[in-house]
Amino acid sequence: MKQSVAARGAFIHKIAQMDDTTSHAPEAVFQRFTLLSVQGVPLFRPIAEAWEPVVDFKAKPDDIVIATYPKAGTTWTQEIVDCILNGGDVEKTKRAPTHIRSPFLEICEVPPMPSGVDLLENTPSPRLVKTHLPYQLMPKSFWEQKCKIIYVARNAKDSLVSYYFFELMNRAQPEPGTWEQYLEKFMKGELAWGSWFDHVIGWWNAKDKHKILYLFFEDMKEDPKREIRKVMKFLGKELSEEVLEKICQHTTFEAMKDNSMANYSSVPDGLFDHSISSFMRKGAVGDWMNYFTVSQNKMFDEEYDKKMIATDLKFRCSI
Ligand code: A3P
Repeated sequence: MKQSVAARGAFIHKIAQMDDTTSHAPEAVFQRFTLLSVQGVPLFRPIAEAWEPVVDFKAKPDDIVIATYPKAGTTWTQEIVDCILNGGDVEKTKRAPTHIRSPFLEICEVPPMPSGVDLLENTPSPRLVKTHLPYQLMPKSFWEQKCKIIYVARNAKDSLVSYYFFELMNRAQPEPGTWEQYLEKFMKGELAWGSWFDHVIGWWNAKDKHKILYLFFEDMKEDPKREIRKVMKFLGKELSEEVLEKICQHTTFEAMKDNSMANYSSVPDGLFDHSISSFMRKGAVGDWMNYFTVSQNKMFDEEYDKKMIATDLKFRCSI
């Protein structure tokens, strides 16, 4: 069904308003999702049960995709790309919260939010699409339309710690259990969106077959300007040093933690409980050292080496 630009704009505005006004309303505590496998990849049950609209999603040639395993710096990259697309006009990036500006492709309806596919169909181009799908589950139309994809990867240990705290605070995610149990599930690929190993390797192996820019969270922390330049070049956008500096300032951890349009504070409290853990938690490299015991670290390293033996993909767990 075709809609006019005005109607689409009104739809987005309504969703944004709804989201803002419900932000601190008393909310029923959300029922956590269980997982159901799609081709061996555990996803939220309602995503798996309504998989067809995702598979059949019609990408457009100017769609830009940000793909990650959860907690790799998706939101950070979404903010950077939105800044670049708006020529560094950071005021324009404050038009709506991240999840409206850059919809989450495969997410099911989580009231008051519509499904990602519904939201994307009502989003004007160029659309900035977020996904956590592993390479093999991406809708084919993204390849047919030759869309540009930015993949961001983060070292396994920091991803795991960040994901654990996120599952504690996000009441849509499955019950995380204890830290010990969580670590075990991570190694077995039993968390939502599956195995970190399969995810980062799958996209790594695909990067030369498509228009994929493969970035690392650790590199972004080390030298954000250098990495933002890579993104600009990939998107074919030339911006002045002054604008680049502005984008850097706008997308520091501290600036984003303070930005209500980027820190997920507009999500209803019943869904994201920031009193348990903030979405913008620490934004650091090496925080895993505060959580892994010596024996957990030894076990992790042994397993890690086995799982990564056949790839030339390398990560840094400290910088
Ligand atoms: P921590 O939990 O380690 O703090 P995602 O957006 O993929 O869910 O990733 C969230 C992680 O990225 C969180 O990690 C969050 O703090 C971190 N993050 C978000 N914005 C950031 C920024 N501007 N700089 C550094 N880290 C950032």
